[in-house]
Amino acid sequence: MTQIVLGIESSCDETAAAVVDSERNILSNVVLSQIEEHAPYGGVVPEIAARAHIDHLDRLIAEAMAEARVDFDDLDAVAATAGPGLIGGVMIGLVTAKAICTARDKPLIGLNHLEAHALTARLTNDVAFPYLLLLVSGGHCQLVSVTGVNQYKRLGTTLDDAVGEAFDKAAKMMGLGYPGGPLVEIAARKGDASRFKLPRPMKGRDNCDFSFSGLKTAVRRALDSIGDQANDQDHADLCASFQAAVGDVLADRTKRAMGLFEEQHPGARRLVIAGGVAANKAIGERLSTITDRSGFDLIVPPPGLCTDNAAMVAWAGLERLKLGLTSDMTISARARWPLDSLAGATDKPFTGAKA
Ligand code: KG4
Ligand code: ZN
Repeated sequence: MTQIVLGIESSCDETAAAVVDSERNILSNVVLSQIEEHAPYGGVVPEIAARAHIDHLDRLIAEAMAEARVDFDDLDAVAATAGPGLIGGVMIGLVTAKAICTARDKPLIGLNHLEAHALTARLTNDVAFPYLLLLVSGGHCQLVSVTGVNQYKRLGTTLDDAVGEAFDKAAKMMGLGYPGGPLVEIAARKGDASRFKLPRPMKGRDNCDFSFSGLKTAVRRALDSIGDQANDQDHADLCASFQAAVGDVLADRTKRAMGLFEEQHPGARRLVIAGGVAANKAIGERLSTITDRSGFDLIVPPPGLCTDNAAMVAWAGLERLKLGLTSDMTISARARWPLDSLAGATDKPFTGAKA
């Protein structure tokens, strides 16, 4: 029988609600971005985010339910991000989900936000397990072997900044605005990627880890070398050079992980990219050069489902519901919550200061 789940997302600066069914239909998907509220500060301000979630979440849930033409009684479960993320926001979404579940006697699914990103490609492209996942977002940069729901093995992670964070910081240095990723991508289209010689941190290393802080410093030096008179073309060239460096690093690290993944799962040649940075077309094209050569399928969900949304939360909820993996009402919000048991030492707490 078809199951229906309401998803709620509030871990950062998007307030979102969506209704999805087990036949992979997105019945509604409402996302309210708080970009304008945070833009003057050049990054997400946790207090402002939490207040905005409180102000808008109830209305967005009502909108998502109305658009999907379902009543709370029609739901099979309610799924909400329970972490990792900005704790105030996560608490608001999770408590709201608990309230609906209590009032309507529905199962609750408290989800790991990274798991929601990790499983999105199964909603959009019906991808089979196992697959290699490159998770690239504002708070994370990881290579993960995904062998099933709740079965994630981290192959590599960033030693410092997340890749989306690097985009945001580079954009901020150039005064492009927030969030920086999409703005860097647009500017880069008119730029000459060969003008600035930027480093490729970690390239060729004997592991699957990343590092982006050196690249950030190199962008700062390049800007200093131009001086106060940097014009739009200078910025476009720097954006193109930066994006090319990021693309090269992601391709190198991912290629290494593909080798490891194939050793463990012969024949399972699938690479999924997820998270906000997966919305970047140039990065997708760069990664397709390595997947094409190795005979891997490259799966990238549509941009609106790469950046934070609640359809991915509802879908991950459906995947868990199918396996009976529901949550206890006592589940609490977590600022930090590594996707796999290997994680820990190198996982930074998420502070929200993405820019
Ligand atoms: O997954 P997401 O929406 O939120 C987190 O869970 O972090 O990712 C947001 C990040 C931001 O750093 C944003 O600048 C980046 O994804 N991003 C992009 C693009 N669109 C969003 N980075 C590069 N190119 C893009 N087109
Ligand atoms: Zn995210």
